[in-house]
Amino acid sequence: MNEIFIRRSIRKYDNQPVEKEKIDQLIRAAMQAPSAGNQQPWEMIIVQNKEMLKKLSLMSPYSKMIEKASVAFVFLGNENVMKYPENWEQDLSAATQNLLLQAVELDLGAVWLGVAPLENRMQYIKDLFQLPDHVKAFSVVPVGYSDQNKFTDRYDPTKVHYEVY
Ligand SMILES: Cc1cc2nc3c(=O)[nH]c(=O)nc-3n(C[C@H](O)[C@H](O)[C@H](O)COP(=O)(O)O)c2cc1C
Repeated sequence: MNEIFIRRSIRKYDNQPVEKEKIDQLIRAAMQAPSAGNQQPWEMIIVQNKEMLKKLSLMSPYSKMIEKASVAFVFLGNENVMKYPENWEQDLSAATQNLLLQAVELDLGAVWLGVAPLENRMQYIKDLFQLPDHVKAFSVVPVGYSDQNKFTDRYDPTKVHYEVY
């Protein structure tokens, strides 16, 4: 699958807005992810408001690019629907990665910004969006048009073990 091989973290975006159809497709891709017991614990906040993007960009020293994104997806986990709460981070990871790969196919640039399990970042998002206690922030993915992309080959045969370690 070509998108897997050409995906990179994109942190610089053009001013061009991302179309609603593409935003919808990104949301759909995220929600197609596998999850423990099919619990689908994800929810997301779609942020396009410039003022909110700016505030979100202050989440950490490594999230400044959010300010210039056309849209940011804030991934959340809803504890009320978790049958297997110990797996929520894996579930949300799969959803986040699905969105990143769909972005490549739509000619968009995106980057996964880690939130959970870092308490200070989770709290920052909880406060910013006034999340209820049972909703946990997991990741933020800013998205925009970009001409940046640098392929890198990470295939490393020394990490592969056939039959025995
Ligand atoms: C859990 C996780 C957290 C990350 N957090 C950040 C972040 O806070 N800021 C950032 O610029 N990139 C972040 N990244 C992106 C990584 O830096 C990036 O994936 C890595 O350097 C490999 O580069 P590539 O995505 O271009 O292949 C994160 C990635 C993951 C998977």
